[in-house]
Amino acid sequence: MFNIFKKKSNVDAKLFYHTDVHSHILPGVDHGSQDVAESLEMLRAELDMGITHVMCTSHVTAETFENTPETLTAAYNLLKKAVAEEGLPVEIYASAEYRIDEYWTSQYEAGNLLPMPGKHILLENSFAQELIGIDNMMFELQVKGYRPILAHPERYRYYYGRKERYKALHSASVKFQVNILSLAGYFGNSARETAIWLIQNNLCDMLGSDMHNMDHAHIIKDYIGSREWSKLCDKYDLRHRIINDREFEL
Ligand SMILES: [Fe+2]
Repeated sequence: MFNIFKKKSNVDAKLFYHTDVHSHILPGVDHGSQDVAESLEMLRAELDMGITHVMCTSHVTAETFENTPETLTAAYNLLKKAVAEEGLPVEIYASAEYRIDEYWTSQYEAGNLLPMPGKHILLENSFAQELIGIDNMMFELQVKGYRPILAHPERYRYYYGRKERYKALHSASVKFQVNILSLAGYFGNSARETAIWLIQNNLCDMLGSDMHNMDHAHIIKDYIGSREWSKLCDKYDLRHRIINDREFEL
């Protein structure tokens, strides 16, 4: 319904960082972008928000999206060619969001991974329960030179009553990436409140769009034009604390 009281957001709003570390923009490999035209539209939306470097972190999950470095690179090459043809001033990088499941284990053991620059690797917990042995796995990954980033920790409900697990993982050098969509309330109040709690407790290292489609892009654009977002940035000095750009040295 049309709401005459809805506050207008700032249509020129830009993010203060230029690297999106989490997106589903590669065409046709998961339930994000379905084709090159949609990917280009999403990249234009990223540019409109001030993002110039995009980590394309498509899902890699058992049974649903059993992607490999080959399937992801093929989609990346298609998109890279289209980006050049369109002359878009954006750099894209092929990588993945690895769900920690049996398919991950098989790919990891086979050395069949596609990390981001600097061997950063975006990992998604199961939404049902915490994996037994996750601490050892995160440790072993780092011994092998990978730098694990936990995707959207605010979305795992089993941590809400066990916040000490956040602190344990984070102090074991696992970086945390919070979704802007969570801050905007897209995943509900609990995820939003937990995202803010992570920021308040210095447990949010990176922000990501986790953009799957243009609806997500519009929600993020509206949110970063809101007073709520600018107050959050100021109150917690996010411009200095968020390491999206520093971490990749692109
Ligand atoms: Fe994602």
